[in-house]
Amino acid sequence: MFRIQLFVFFLYVWPFSARSEDGSRLWLRYDPVSDVVAQRRTVQVNQKHETALLAQHELNTYWRGTSIQLNVDQKEAKLKEGYRISFSAGAIRVTAARPVGLLYAAYHLLRLQETVGEIDPLPIEEIPSYDIRILNHWDNLDGSIERGYAGRSLWKWTELPDKISPRYTEYARANASIGINATVLNNVNASPYILNTAYLEKVRALADIFRPYGIRVYLSVNFSSPVILDGLKDADPSRLEVQDWWKKKVKEVYKLVPDFGGFLVKANSEGQPGPQDYGRTHAEGANMLADALKPFGGIVMWRAFVYSPTSEDRAKQAYLEFVPLDKAFRDNVIVQIKNGPIDFQPREPFNPLFGAMQHTSQMVEFQITQEYLGFSNHLAYLAPLFKETLDSDTYGRGAGSTVAKVTDGTWHPKRVSAIAAVANIGEDRNWTGHDFAQANWYAFGRLAWRHELSSEQIAEEWIKLTFHTDETFIRSTKEIMMPSREAVVNYMMPLGLHHIFAFDHHYGPEPWGDRKGGRADWMPWYYHNADSIGIGFNRTDTGSDAAGQYHAPIAEIYGDRTLCPENLLLWFHHVPWDYRMRSGRTLWEELCEHYDRGVKQTRRFQESWDRLEHHVDQPRFLAVQSKLKIQAKDAMWWKDACLLYFQTFCKKPIPFHIERPI
Ligand code: GCU
Repeated sequence: MFRIQLFVFFLYVWPFSARSEDGSRLWLRYDPVSDVVAQRRTVQVNQKHETALLAQHELNTYWRGTSIQLNVDQKEAKLKEGYRISFSAGAIRVTAARPVGLLYAAYHLLRLQETVGEIDPLPIEEIPSYDIRILNHWDNLDGSIERGYAGRSLWKWTELPDKISPRYTEYARANASIGINATVLNNVNASPYILNTAYLEKVRALADIFRPYGIRVYLSVNFSSPVILDGLKDADPSRLEVQDWWKKKVKEVYKLVPDFGGFLVKANSEGQPGPQDYGRTHAEGANMLADALKPFGGIVMWRAFVYSPTSEDRAKQAYLEFVPLDKAFRDNVIVQIKNGPIDFQPREPFNPLFGAMQHTSQMVEFQITQEYLGFSNHLAYLAPLFKETLDSDTYGRGAGSTVAKVTDGTWHPKRVSAIAAVANIGEDRNWTGHDFAQANWYAFGRLAWRHELSSEQIAEEWIKLTFHTDETFIRSTKEIMMPSREAVVNYMMPLGLHHIFAFDHHYGPEPWGDRKGGRADWMPWYYHNADSIGIGFNRTDTGSDAAGQYHAPIAEIYGDRTLCPENLLLWFHHVPWDYRMRSGRTLWEELCEHYDRGVKQTRRFQESWDRLEHHVDQPRFLAVQSKLKIQAKDAMWWKDACLLYFQTFCKKPIPFHIERPI
């Protein structure tokens, strides 16, 4: 009896127990090879550099294929951090200009091993789309994370530099495996104390761990640091004393971290100090820091997320402040621009600043952490959102000037190019709170490496690496992931609606929100403008004319109600409730339809996932199942709240086939 039970137990549990996990191994689930395999082939490297040796070690431990020769060859400079892989006579040859290229090639080979049955012996050449592929951590020195939904910060500031968590290495390895080569450790709302010597020692400890994995450390800095740390009377960038303070500080940083990357700066934005406090421009502030960093090869990423409660439409303000400064920035300054003109909404048009500054290096900032997409409770695969921005044509230098091309170095081949995203990583065992949120970290890395990859390709890769290669599982999981971001748009803010979130925490709906005496541009009605006639923000030439900030023909398309893509209609237009949509429905009916569709999509996600129970290990199956339940409930909450509220303006019935509000 016992024997039989034992047999049954193994039969049932074994197929997944080998990979039975709680998500802590991310997409890195390779199993070490046996001694027999290891002795059958060799992995040789032509350099003793620590990163090259790491590449050799990864392959020695996990590679099941034929022998490999890893070569660093500086003559291959055009490869940058990329690599070439060729297959001949039963052996593989990898060439890279830099040791880190070998490490990336090692992960490429392991990815192939885990995801494709038989590796195609055609030569491979990979050159990254962006030079700097960087995560922005909004981690505070007290261990909390602004807009973080996966537990507290990974960085244990009180323990560093003496105690080193093993997760620091795991973090570096995970990033290296997807090509991420840089990280900003601290929040853009920066504490000046990060530049204290005691903290810099801690930063050094992290940088030392990340270095072999090819990851450079950057810091967010507070513009008032000279005042707060050393009592200077002000932080005016035109004063010599202030400039000298930064020069000395930068020197100190480089003494500790010789490959330090540079500074990220949020200035004169949401209450942060900046050069405008002294009547100076963003360029004057950025250039002062750039000059201090220049001798060491460092850069400044200066954020364009600026707006204030003036009469000007918030969506226009960054453009108005930055475009006049186009020729004023040093060449080691990159202006870091959020993908859309407001703030990481479920859907925004691309930011009109992209392509509008011809002489200034620009980089995109995405948000991986789901501040506006249901935190770590909702499954929203974000590659389609990232792609939507990268593939948008700005027409900045004629057709084909996509956001990707404006930022990837095509416009400024001699300067470094970069792409950033706000991380969703915390100390949760599965790193990101939701098991599927790991896919967004993965997708960002893969797109930063090669922005031409498709969302679907990345999803498929991630599923195979993170779960397994069973065809049914891959198909069904893709059917959940691929429409998931659009589902969030549907049940939260369809047709171009935006920022109707509950005040401050941004989780649920609050389109009615009105804080007496609060800033108008932080109130939902500022964005939806619902009234008895219609709904939406008039950003045409009869309104704020934000549409006019785009190049032709985009300005005309967005500015014309009949040409504007319907998924952005209410972003650019105030539209009557009875307006006929392309479907033949009225705007009100269409709105009802979208909210309802969103709810139904989340139910379908639940059903599809339930069917996969025997394809996934129990811990992850149950964790995802319970999160999908929350998502479906929240979707209904969004639909009911928004439709019932907007109904008070349009005074029209909810169509009969739409599920009743509860
Ligand atoms: C959003 C977010 C803030 C963050 C800011 C920024 O407004 O809610 O928490 O500080 O973006 O990007 O600077």
